[in-house]
Amino acid sequence: MSVARINGGGIGYGGDYNPEQWPRQVWDEDVDLMARAGVTFVTLGVFSWSWIETADGVYEFDWLDDAMDLLHEHGIAVDLATATATPPPWLSHAHPEVLPVDVEGRTRWPGSRQAWCPNSPVFAAKAVRLAGEMARRYADHPALAMWHISNEYACHNLPCYCDRCAAAFRRWLHERYGGLDALNDAWGTAFWSQRYTDLEQVLPPRLTTTIPNPTHVLDYRRFSSDSLLALYRAEAAAVREHSPDIPITTNFMTMRHFDHLDYHRWAQHVDVVSTDHYIVNTWPHPRAELAFSADLVRGIAGGAPWILMEHSTSAVNWQPTNPAKALGQTLRDSLAQVARGADTVGFFQWRQSRAGAEKYHSAMVPHAGPDSARFREVCELGDLLGRLKEIAGSRVAADVAILFDTQARWAAEGPAMPNSALAYLDTPEAVHRALRSRGVTADVVHPGSDLSGYRVLIVPTLYTVQPAHAEAVAAAAAAGAHVLVTFFSGIADPDDHVLLGGYPGAFRELLGVRVEEFFPLLPGETVAVTGPGDAAGTGRSWSEDVTVPRDSLDGPLAGVVATYTDGPLAGRPAITRRELPGGGVAWYLSTLPDDATLRDLLAEVLAGAGVPA
Ligand code: GAL
Repeated sequence: MSVARINGGGIGYGGDYNPEQWPRQVWDEDVDLMARAGVTFVTLGVFSWSWIETADGVYEFDWLDDAMDLLHEHGIAVDLATATATPPPWLSHAHPEVLPVDVEGRTRWPGSRQAWCPNSPVFAAKAVRLAGEMARRYADHPALAMWHISNEYACHNLPCYCDRCAAAFRRWLHERYGGLDALNDAWGTAFWSQRYTDLEQVLPPRLTTTIPNPTHVLDYRRFSSDSLLALYRAEAAAVREHSPDIPITTNFMTMRHFDHLDYHRWAQHVDVVSTDHYIVNTWPHPRAELAFSADLVRGIAGGAPWILMEHSTSAVNWQPTNPAKALGQTLRDSLAQVARGADTVGFFQWRQSRAGAEKYHSAMVPHAGPDSARFREVCELGDLLGRLKEIAGSRVAADVAILFDTQARWAAEGPAMPNSALAYLDTPEAVHRALRSRGVTADVVHPGSDLSGYRVLIVPTLYTVQPAHAEAVAAAAAAGAHVLVTFFSGIADPDDHVLLGGYPGAFRELLGVRVEEFFPLLPGETVAVTGPGDAAGTGRSWSEDVTVPRDSLDGPLAGVVATYTDGPLAGRPAITRRELPGGGVAWYLSTLPDDATLRDLLAEVLAGAGVPA
């Protein structure tokens, strides 16, 4: 489905527009300023429920009609929200059962936003009804260019542990496992006397005395993501009934700290992938994080152009201290996203609010008004993007893929792991950073994607792995790809059951290595390793006892490229390399090296694969 109308035929430019916060005369100034800034679209109505449906089934569309007409008169396309992100007070007052409940059983009360339970039938019915009403009213409006279902699902309301979620979880488990035997087996309930004899005994993983069952927790994450996806799909279906030809999206959140939804599953159900990304300059590698996120969104979009729905012109307001951005940063950040596949650049929000929880969040028109350096920068960006028309719709080409799987992330960050100080993203981000510093573009893709076109595949901490995905990696290597697998990959199956016989079970044969024991490192601790060349380096977070078995392999043995030089593993392999008969190479990296060592290693991997760096 074409998104050309939101892009004005080039690179789209705009942001969230909340006219209900302003008197009518301000709207006229808004559209004039939008023209000055080169805005092509706005997202309208995200938090407008209480202004549209003023009582149960009572609609006041007049103001929204006016806003739609005005925007259309000024040539601005509308990404129209279904307005269901936050229910109005009348709804939670009449139906307090829509409110979400946290892990300790505490209700999350209204007074902020997104205070609804993903499995509340009342909430679902009211939200789907409003989505349908919105579509019925605006399907043929000439300003309408895209539908924006809800907003940032799970930003605040996941997971919910209420009784309705408990019942829905049981239904989800019944569908997944069929019977209790399969459930007990998948969850390993032989451990700690957890065997279920009736599905009714199963609860959400609420606050426990100590370590909860990891597969129970993992399934709850899957279920929670699926619950919201079902709700998204119900709203999308209601919209589609009246408005079949307009593309539908919902804004994902691909920032590093957000991990509630499995966007690779979600992406199958949107017409165009959009995401929100807020750079956090106080994080250790902010530019690299932005680049990783953009390459990940492109992977989620299957390589197609995608929409940067929200970012900020300057400070956010949700950190303890919120530094302003230097002038010029927003230009650079926006263009970095465009270079990595975005063909629309949006902000939260058009005009900075005077009141409410986000009044100190920056916007395209700041409190100071249009006579401000910030607004001049916004105009400059609009002008720049307007001049980049010819790259709209183009695709990024990459020889290198980094595999990324949210389900592996959930499992790897589950309870009681060998090193809880090691975040799943640490390794893929470190690899991506090293590649980026060499000017090498990488796609960040799901392991179930088509891997056949890549010359280099990196498999970082793919802790759980589906057999088909491990086979696809091996098949790519057999066909000539150079594969680099890192520690803590291929350790467990998708139920988080360890693959026995020596780690990493799913990749042992491909790599020609066997690990008997992990030696995770304490925060701040490092271990010395020889580099891939002559240089000495260090490893952090992880080390392990790697051997190269000589007798149990078909084909060539792995060679040792680098060894540990101190600590309990001194003299043991740290990095290995195995040449495969079809020209492929299987590398294994058993620690997280310092940046220089990782760069050197990747230089060798790339050179071997003939990828310029
Ligand atoms: C997003 C949200 C926006 C706004 C923004 C502030 O989470 O979609 O409505 O709150 O963050 O950074």
